[in-house]
Amino acid sequence: MKSAALRGDYTKAAHDYSVEQDWSSYTAADHALYRRLFERQSKLVPKYACPEWIDAIARLDAASGIPHFEKISEKMRRATGWGIVAVPGLIPDDAFFTHLANRRFPVTVWLRKPEEFDYIVEPDVFHDFFGHVPLLFDPVYADHLHEYGKGGLKAMRLNAVKWLARLYWYTIEFGLMNTPQGVRAYGAGLLSSGGELAYCVDSPKPKRLPFDLERIMRTEYIIDRFQETYFVIDSFDQLMRDTAPDFTPIYKRLAEK
Ligand code: PHE
Ligand code: FE
Repeated sequence: MKSAALRGDYTKAAHDYSVEQDWSSYTAADHALYRRLFERQSKLVPKYACPEWIDAIARLDAASGIPHFEKISEKMRRATGWGIVAVPGLIPDDAFFTHLANRRFPVTVWLRKPEEFDYIVEPDVFHDFFGHVPLLFDPVYADHLHEYGKGGLKAMRLNAVKWLARLYWYTIEFGLMNTPQGVRAYGAGLLSSGGELAYCVDSPKPKRLPFDLERIMRTEYIIDRFQETYFVIDSFDQLMRDTAPDFTPIYKRLAEK
């Protein structure tokens, strides 16, 4: 969550790091670039995205340009009680977890540059919106992310954020799911990626292991290349069930190693 130089404008952010989206400041070029990103990913998702994501994106009407967060938030509130909060970019752990624990998903306001079409290190509005927002229309996923936020605040008190962050990485960002059609992506880092979305499903190279909470917490991750290991859930119900127990004893074990 932290990095030396973040590129967003943090000067206007409130205490909780929220900002105005200021939708009118996006240029025609921004909307056109967003549309190109949306179109490329839309060709891939029928074959590679999980059904819950595919169902939700159809309800969002978000293909024509960078969406108005407030309009989408209204729909989300009706569906699952979640809303979007606009942020300048990555935010500190406590602010991030507090938003999730209150059913607010932080979405970065700025869009990548054209030369970052294929690859970007920091999350931008396309990653946050296209990758994360649709699944918040799924009731079980939505409840799980709420629990994750509360679990994050608890992990801060227990000095265990490092391990909980790995769970986020291998599920919310890079998670795979078994479906009747085969393995599909539900992780936002996959859904918004031009290259990794097909790779994570089709390539024989990476490991695809069944979801295993403690193993995930022991597995370091890489942020600047395709993943070497993915963890596969059977359903969001399974994810909810397997993350429901108290993590305190697990954190203790991990700290002893
Ligand atoms: N069960 C976790 C704990 O006790 C909280 C949690 C729930 C974390 C869901 C992640 C996802 O800390
Ligand atoms: Fe993300």
